[in-house]
Amino acid sequence: MAAVSVAPASVPSAPPKEAIDGKLLPGEHTLPASWWKSEKIFELEKRAIFNKSWMYCIHESRFKKAGDYFSFTVSGINFFIIKSKVDGQLKAFHNVCRHRAYPVIRKEKGSSTIIGCKYHGWSYNSDGQLTKAPHFEQVEGFKKEENSLFPIKCHTQKESGLVFVNFSNEENVPDFDEWFTGLNQEMTEFDFTDYEYHMSYELDGQFNWKTLMDGYQECYHCPTAHPGLSTAFKMETYKVVPKGRYCRHYAEVVKEEIEIPDDDADADEESSWFGFGKKKSAAAAEAAAEAERKMKAKKENPGGEFNGLWVYLFPNHGINCYSPAWYSIRVLPLSPNHTILQYDIYTKKGLAEDKKKEFVDFLQLVELEDFNLCQLTQKNLDQGVYNSGYLHPTKERGVLHYQGIVRDMVKEHYELESKAGKPINPAFVGGNSINESVKELDEICSNLECGSGEGDKGLDW
Ligand code: FES
Ligand SMILES: [Fe+2]
Repeated sequence: MAAVSVAPASVPSAPPKEAIDGKLLPGEHTLPASWWKSEKIFELEKRAIFNKSWMYCIHESRFKKAGDYFSFTVSGINFFIIKSKVDGQLKAFHNVCRHRAYPVIRKEKGSSTIIGCKYHGWSYNSDGQLTKAPHFEQVEGFKKEENSLFPIKCHTQKESGLVFVNFSNEENVPDFDEWFTGLNQEMTEFDFTDYEYHMSYELDGQFNWKTLMDGYQECYHCPTAHPGLSTAFKMETYKVVPKGRYCRHYAEVVKEEIEIPDDDADADEESSWFGFGKKKSAAAAEAAAEAERKMKAKKENPGGEFNGLWVYLFPNHGINCYSPAWYSIRVLPLSPNHTILQYDIYTKKGLAEDKKKEFVDFLQLVELEDFNLCQLTQKNLDQGVYNSGYLHPTKERGVLHYQGIVRDMVKEHYELESKAGKPINPAFVGGNSINESVKELDEICSNLECGSGEGDKGLDW
């Protein structure tokens, strides 16, 4: 399986040539089917992957004023992101009251610079600091400053405005730029400021999160499963290029009736078929505008409108930028065979309503086709007949790549837990009030949980 490379992209705006001329590397097998249905593997994946990865949540343009917030659940963890009144930054907090753990936010979105818990009335400001704890003024030893909401690492990518979180509380958590080396530069190719939020929708899938990612990470299935998409893009040009913890997808748009500008007409990173929505230098802009006028004059194929910057972000997100709109897909695992798919669509400012609808219809058709593939695939993975399949070395390179990261992170964490003799949850915060007595009671619980079954050699924590 391909090793994880975190080297920055050297040619970010066009697919590199295949590394091997003529001959292909041998293929590799998928991870075993048990990894798509085991409750224990699922829980291990949460600790090994989701609770220590940088994960995309939302675009910063959704936050207009101080106090605007959005709540999320990822990998079973409830949290919210709020625009701070103190410094205007976006900040993330666990949606857990420090008193008795009631959720302090109970709506999907809202706006308030004071977060009041509706259980016993504790209040926090938009920086997560406890400002009020009724009747605790007289309590000996109680310190408000030690009872702020638990913060979560939050990063807004300045090139795009995409907002990410990382649940890990471990030391040596890679910072965002290190985690996604090369991504910042890649995202400068698309002008996110020219787009505004349009709509969201959700699909409720009876399948493992990886079932969806498997399909997302290749277009080998497109000619058979996406007839519409296959008329819009030249499927033989579809490439998934691994770039460390993200992959870029490339495909050449079909413009049969359109004269495609000569490759040399303007600079590499500023022309190509990804021209729409991109930032251009003044010199190249004129040439590109002329080429674009030509295209528009002749264009009949609606697929010709779509030019992409498509990125898979490990572990479970996709950012797909076209000219009329960009959208994100968030693949949210609930159990081994239950996953919520969330789509947020942002359309180009000023885009006509019928064009928005055309884009949404196009997107929803393709996504539904993928959804149906996953539903039936998972049923067969659950049967216990199939175990592993042979993947194509180039057509399914993206699948090999991301499954390789999953395998490596899970194996590494499994070894850590085996050595420790207990589960290690990087997202655990615990707080500062744990005393010896609480620790002792915790030990009793973990001994009971870990020691189940005589002669049990498995990781039955
Ligand atoms: S749980 Fe929030 S105030 Fe008691
Ligand atoms: Fe698909």
